[in-house]
Amino acid sequence: MNEHLAMLGRFVRSPRTAGAVAPSSRALARAMVADLDLSGPVRVVELGPGTGVFTREIAGRLGPTARCLAIDIDPGFVEQLHRRCPRVDAVCGSAADLQAHATAAGFDRVDHIISGLPFASLPATVTSAVLDAIVAVLPPGGTFTTFQYVHGYPSPLARAFRRDMSARLGRRPTRHLVLRNVPPAYVLGWSRR
Ligand SMILES: C[S@@+](CC[C@H](N)C(=O)[O-])C[C@H]1O[C@@H](n2cnc3c(N)ncnc32)[C@H](O)[C@@H]1O
Repeated sequence: MNEHLAMLGRFVRSPRTAGAVAPSSRALARAMVADLDLSGPVRVVELGPGTGVFTREIAGRLGPTARCLAIDIDPGFVEQLHRRCPRVDAVCGSAADLQAHATAAGFDRVDHIISGLPFASLPATVTSAVLDAIVAVLPPGGTFTTFQYVHGYPSPLARAFRRDMSARLGRRPTRHLVLRNVPPAYVLGWSRR
């Protein structure tokens, strides 16, 4: 309930950067990480962790030599993550500065990027800067996973996002429907060519 209130509060203060009135479901969180092997010495970055629904799922799958960096623009969420997910390095900042945050965390590479960012409502300039940052750090074979709500999936903005990401990463995404989320969502996963 606390997490729901925290997300609702964020939405009231800043609807465009919150993007949702409630945290995602555990089912969506599981689907976001289902295809990723985090048992080895991988470097994972989560963008927009919010209350940490995806972060907990990631943390539970990290092997002893794996590391995860979570970046959120809201200092309150980051403070909560420090307490709730000590296994994860949580920093306050913009996802557009992903490369600088990864370097500061001592990451020599980034293998997987998992995003809860609300691309449908973020200003276009922010989305563009974040996508540039993702492309700058992700090596061939690296993955980018995000979700789009089913009701927004056919919209021109959502289609343009998928086209742009596919062009940048050189491949089309895999797609999984998650019905047990309010609202239902598609999980989209790109593996860079
Ligand atoms: C829709 S919430 C998703 C939270 C969580 N991943 C979930 O699915 O429940 C979006 C999150 O992105 C964060 N956010 C928005 N813009 C950001 C940016 N430019 N950089 C980093 N985080 C950002 C917000 O603070 C919020 O926590």
